[in-house]
Amino acid sequence: VSLEPSCLHVPLGERGYDILVAPDLLDRAGELLGGILRRPRLVLVTDENIARTAQLDRLSSSLARAGVAAETIVVPAGESSKSWPCLEELCEKVLASGIDRGATLVAFGGGVVGDLAGFAAAVLLRGIDLVQIPTTLLAQVDSSVGGKTGINSPHGKNLIGAFHQPRLVIVDPTLLRSLPRRELLAGYAELVKHALISDEELFAWLEAHLDGILAVDPPTLAEAIRRSVAVKVAIVGRDERETSGERALLNFGHTFAHAYEKLTRYGDALRHGEAVALGMARAYALSVRLGDCSGQDAVRACRHLSAAGLPTRPSDLDLRFPPASVIAAMQRDKKAENGRLVFVLSGGLGRAHRRADIPIEDVTAVLSDDA
Ligand SMILES: NC(=O)c1ccc[n+]([C@@H]2O[C@H](COP(=O)([O-])OP(=O)(O)OC[C@H]3O[C@@H](n4cnc5c(N)ncnc54)[C@H](O)[C@@H]3O)[C@@H](O)[C@H]2O)c1
Ligand SMILES: [Zn+2]
Repeated sequence: VSLEPSCLHVPLGERGYDILVAPDLLDRAGELLGGILRRPRLVLVTDENIARTAQLDRLSSSLARAGVAAETIVVPAGESSKSWPCLEELCEKVLASGIDRGATLVAFGGGVVGDLAGFAAAVLLRGIDLVQIPTTLLAQVDSSVGGKTGINSPHGKNLIGAFHQPRLVIVDPTLLRSLPRRELLAGYAELVKHALISDEELFAWLEAHLDGILAVDPPTLAEAIRRSVAVKVAIVGRDERETSGERALLNFGHTFAHAYEKLTRYGDALRHGEAVALGMARAYALSVRLGDCSGQDAVRACRHLSAAGLPTRPSDLDLRFPPASVIAAMQRDKKAENGRLVFVLSGGLGRAHRRADIPIEDVTAVLSDDA
């Protein structure tokens, strides 16, 4: 067994950074951070749920062993922390700790902590160093990589934010042992998404290793995460700011998902990852209907999502979405280009493309089948 964690490099020139993936890296965080900290002290941001687990103690001990002083700021758990009041409170607390331009902020949490602390790091002193230590599967495969940070507005999700790439991302799958099952599965939807849009071999590997993943086996998860993140890294490396359209492929399933989330008011009835699973199933149905994808590939993808315990039809979650409401919600989406609906469709397992020319009748038809 190699002691070296697998290392992925995000190729963004002087903003490039490494993503380290291996079981038990949390216990080596102090040593790993040593190489990049400009001062032997940092500000750690986490949420109250994580602060209650043994994981925060593991991180604090590792920092102490490496002689790194850490001030910990705990924010409330949940999406409501991605708000102006919480951002203000966090920034003022960090400033009160007496930071300078050489300071490093560590986001130790799920996507909420990563987005909030990441945005604080982007604006404090016009930008200080950020390290991501993601603690949910969603954050490990998706939100901690790529540099998008931000908070929500009453006008919509993630409307206030900045690109701020981290200096380092440390991914330890043993952190997922304390994660509630539903959160694990929601993150798995994004992990599978990366395979479905660009790595057919990874998809086959996931089919063969689903048991180990669902059993939260750290080496299996480390391999799945590493290969899934590699897909996002490659895309972000080619299209950092979503200008060439390639980064938009990461939105596979998301045109539907955002509408479903809007209709459930971002409440507990539907996690983002669950909405993405539903959305990918619909995107496959649409791709098959338009002749872009074979029926067999669509069936295989949906069968895997179901086997993992993810929903592929709203009825799996006791939800119902009238097609007309879904379409109206899509048309109100800020990402709709001049009111035109843009979908990412599948061209078969491991392949995806964007289309902005899809007749509403076809969308209605696949939504109507969605009992
Ligand atoms: N920046 C990006 O590119 C990007 C991409 C995708 C999603 N996001 C954002 O990510 C957010 C969702 O992230 P999330 O799904 O990680 O949610 P989250 O951060 O709310 O975490 C989910 C729940 O798990 C708890 N938790 C986290 N880690 C834990 C652990 N190891 N053990 C026990 N409990 C733990 C949290 O307290 C929370 O209750 C959304 O706000 C979304 O907009 C951002
Ligand atoms: Zn997503």
